Amino acid sequence: MMARPWQAPRPLLAIVVTLVALTYQAGKKTFISIQEVPADANYVKDTLQFVMDKYNEESDDKYNFRIFRILKIQKQITDHMEYHFNLEIRRTTCQKLETTNCAPQEGELRKQVMCNFSVFAAPWFEKYKIQKKNCISS
Ligand SMILES: *[C@@H]1O[C@H](CO)[C@@H](O)[C@H](O)[C@H]1NC(C)=O
Repeated sequence: MMARPWQAPRPLLAIVVTLVALTYQAGKKTFISIQEVPADANYVKDTLQFVMDKYNEESDDKYNFRIFRILKIQKQITDHMEYHFNLEIRRTTCQKLETTNCAPQEGELRKQVMCNFSVFAAPWFEKYKIQKKNCISS
């Protein structure tokens, strides 16, 4: 039996498509580096400051929140730099413009929020942008 000429290219085409897809993925992967970094690593402090300023600016709460615990910091490098923060933040006794002695609230006003942020960071240009924010209060 003879295969019809137009049937032959199909498996070949599938193989080519798969190869291109694999190559594309492999190519992308080589440009992604994700590593955990400590809180005192370069640029982390400034980026965290930006994140909390933004959080408080956007929050309707009468009081400011601040970082109580840093669970994880990851730095991701592709064609740009991005930080992933896993933070525990708490409502403080400081109202919007106060910045000193901001102790965590206790009693009825106590509030703890777990947040994950993804932040675009170009610290040398003082440019930051929150790309993802996911917070759950407990
Ligand atoms: C934050 O991300 C971690 C995984 O890194 C996940 O376990 C946790 O549930 C996330 N928390 C929130 C508030 O999204």
